[in-house]
Amino acid sequence: MTVAVRSFAKINLGLYIGARRADGFHDLRTVYQTIALHDLIRVSVGRGRGIEIVCDDARVPLDSSNTCYRIAELVMAELGAKGRVRIEIEKRLPVQGGLGAASSNAVATMIALERALAGTGLSPVSTRKRKLSAAARLRIAAEVGSDLPLFLVGGTVLGVGRGEEVYPLPDLAAVPMVVVTPEVGVSTPRAFADWDALVQRECELRSAGQPGAAVPTREQLTGPATSDRLVEVGCALSAWLCGPPNTGAPAKGGSRAGNLLLDLVRTGIENDFARVVFPQYPELRDIKGALERAGASYASLSGSGSALYGLFRSRAEAVEAASRLRKQGVRAVATSTLTRRQVSKLQGFRVAG
Ligand code: C5P
Repeated sequence: MTVAVRSFAKINLGLYIGARRADGFHDLRTVYQTIALHDLIRVSVGRGRGIEIVCDDARVPLDSSNTCYRIAELVMAELGAKGRVRIEIEKRLPVQGGLGAASSNAVATMIALERALAGTGLSPVSTRKRKLSAAARLRIAAEVGSDLPLFLVGGTVLGVGRGEEVYPLPDLAAVPMVVVTPEVGVSTPRAFADWDALVQRECELRSAGQPGAAVPTREQLTGPATSDRLVEVGCALSAWLCGPPNTGAPAKGGSRAGNLLLDLVRTGIENDFARVVFPQYPELRDIKGALERAGASYASLSGSGSALYGLFRSRAEAVEAASRLRKQGVRAVATSTLTRRQVSKLQGFRVAG
């Protein structure tokens, strides 16, 4: 029995990087939003042992460094299951694109693997655990990567900690959008390191302006000041969630929930990665400008890029903008954000279920 599960992409609606922690990760605050673009994951379990990854995209690793491999290993161990797992990845999303594809692929693998195990005669050796608990799914997902747990929640999701601590936000009406996927891949660890270097340079410049000040250490540089900033961002997000209905153009239906996503972008959200990624890849800054000129009410890099997105007021405007951008040689596609309800229906799965 082969189980197929859609593996949806995400974008970041604002991303704020805080202090580098003792474990090497950075504290952050972000609002994740799942979108309709997706890869397809097919999982089957047969007799035997081991994990096999099949993918015709040469950039996808087929060994134990693949997030799908790692999660399959953890799920099999947690369930005490034995068998040969075959995972096929039908790649449509970009690799290193900032759309969370590898993370989403892993979560889709977990969902499909649980179903495949339930549907084969190869029941787990331990009858104690036929199914993972919601908490176990979240724990396993976080073990594989910071960007995985969000895909177990879906829709609009608040991400804190290193991004793995996730909280569902109100399920917002779907918003039309355009996603641009440039050829270039951006390394997230490299982008975080570049951010640290930028913060350090800025602090050194500031302290150089204060006579007699000692040269600050790296820990001082990325410590309290950046944490204070995250507290400020937390206040702004809280005010956004509690605030009065916006006074701008009402979304369809005019409800507060319908306007909430557009309210968020009107608060002036930023993606910190833009400050280190745009200077290195000026063509990405140009694409952001092109999205804005094509009518996007908000345009941004997603994660550390290289994907960019623009939010639009209507599907027709998004389709028109994508076609205009394609004529300019930009790889653009019109799509839509996905509500939690839609994700759960399309994947046939709920984190709390
Ligand atoms: O968790 P994930 O495997 O996606 O992280 C990949 C790398 O990105 C980490 O090893 C770390 O260098 C960097 N990272 C970080 N802070 C985060 C998330 C990731 O520094 N919050």
